[in-house]
Amino acid sequence: MNPARLIERKRDGGELDPAELSGFFAAYLDGAVEEYQMSAFLMAVLFRGLTPGELDTLVDFMLRSGEVLDFSDLGGPRVDKHSTGGVGDKVSLPLAPLVAEAGVFVPMMSGRGLGHSGGTLDKLESIPGFRTGLSLAEFRAGLVENRVAMIGQTDEIAPLDRRLYDLRSVTGTVNSIPLIAASIMSKKLAEGLTGLVLDVKCGRGAFLREEEDAIELARTMVGIGATRGVPTTALVTAMDRPLGRTAGNALEVREAIECLMGGGPSDLREVTLALAAEMLVLGGIDPDLAPAHERASKLLDSGAPIERFRRMIERQGGDPAVVDDPDRLPRAPIEREVQAGSTGVVQAVDPLALGFGVVELGGGRTRLGEAIHPGVGFSWDVSPGDEVRAGERIGVVHARNEGEADRGEAILTQAIQIAPDGTSTREDGSSKVRPLLSHRITDERVARIRI
Ligand code: URA
Repeated sequence: MNPARLIERKRDGGELDPAELSGFFAAYLDGAVEEYQMSAFLMAVLFRGLTPGELDTLVDFMLRSGEVLDFSDLGGPRVDKHSTGGVGDKVSLPLAPLVAEAGVFVPMMSGRGLGHSGGTLDKLESIPGFRTGLSLAEFRAGLVENRVAMIGQTDEIAPLDRRLYDLRSVTGTVNSIPLIAASIMSKKLAEGLTGLVLDVKCGRGAFLREEEDAIELARTMVGIGATRGVPTTALVTAMDRPLGRTAGNALEVREAIECLMGGGPSDLREVTLALAAEMLVLGGIDPDLAPAHERASKLLDSGAPIERFRRMIERQGGDPAVVDDPDRLPRAPIEREVQAGSTGVVQAVDPLALGFGVVELGGGRTRLGEAIHPGVGFSWDVSPGDEVRAGERIGVVHARNEGEADRGEAILTQAIQIAPDGTSTREDGSSKVRPLLSHRITDERVARIRI
C-alpha cells in the first residue's frame, strides 16, 4: 500500500475498498502511516465525504481497534444517550440517574469540554473527589449496584477514534459529518448497548449550525446503529441559545441538582424528559412515548432519582453531601452582578460567546490536559423574548479575579442582546429562536416534532 496514492484517490473523489482502507488504518496504528499522511487523508474526507461502504469500514475498524464491552449478563436493557455538544448542556447529569431509576442500565461514557462546548466529565469532576477514570471492573460494579455509572473513554475503547479525534481537533477536520458520525458511534457501540438515544444540537452554539446538516448527521448515526443491531433514535434540539441558565462546570452541577429535585429551568427539564422518554421506550419500559414521558416526569418530581445520583457520587469517590448542600461545590471568589444597559426585549443569548467566555474565565481548555477552574462561568436571568429594564440584573459573572470579572462582564453584556421592543438586533432582521425540540429521527423516518 502506498499511502500517498490512496490519499490522492480519495482527494480526487474515488472510492476506496474495505481491504485497502482497513490496511491504511492498521498501518497508521502501527506507525507505518505518518500523522501528516493521516491529516491529509482526513482533509480529503472533509471535502469528499465517505461512501456508505467506506463509512462502514471506518466504523468497523474503529470499533475493532479496541474492546467491545459485554454487559449482557446484567439482565436488563442497557441504553445510553449522547449529545453532539453545546453550551449549558448538563442534561446527562439528571438524565442518567432518572432513566436508571426507571429500570434501565445506563453505562454512560462521556467526554471533556471541546472548544466552546462543555463536557460532562469536567462537570462531574467539579464535585469534590468524583472519579471519572474508573477501571472497567469498577464501571461494571457501578452498573450492577446502582444501574448507572458515568466515566470517560478508557484506553481500551475505540483507540483509533481517540487518535484521529486528537488529530482532527488540531488540523481543522472536526466538522465532517461522516467523521463525527463514525467517531461518536464507534464509542457508543463499544458500550455493549441495547439502545441509544442521540441529542443532535443545532444552531450557533453547536458544531453543526444548519438544520439540514444536523438532520443528516442524525440520519447517518441512526443508520449506523440500525446496521449494527443497536436501535437508535435521535432528537434534534436547539443550540441557538444555551440550555438552562448557567454555563460553567460547578454552576451546571447545581442546576442539574435542581432539575433532579423537580425544579430548575424549564428548557432543561423539557429536553431531559424528552430524551428520558425515548430511552424508556428503547429500553422496553414503556410501549410508547406518552406513558414514558409521564413516568419520567413523575419520577423526577418524586425525589428518587436524586438518591440514585447521590449513590453514584458516593460510589465514584465524590462528596455526596453536595446534593443537600450545593454550596460545598467549588465557587469562584468573585461573583459580579451584571445589569441591563437598556430597556427592551432580549433578542438572543449567544451560546458561542458564553461557551468561549467560560474558556476565557479558566473553566475550559485551550490546550489538551490543561487544568481548569471548576467554579467559574456565567449565570443569567433572562431568555430570548423576555422584557428587561435598564439597570435590572440580567446575570452574574463567576470569576477568579477582578480583571477576569471585567472581561466576563463585557462578554455577558454582549452575549445578551437587547433591542427596544419591536426592533431586532439580528443581522437578518429576525428575532426567531429555534424550537427547543425540532425533529425526531428513527431508522424509518424524519419527523418534525409538534408540541
Ligand atoms: N464528539 C465526538 O465524540 N466525536 C466527534 O467527532 C465530534 C463530537
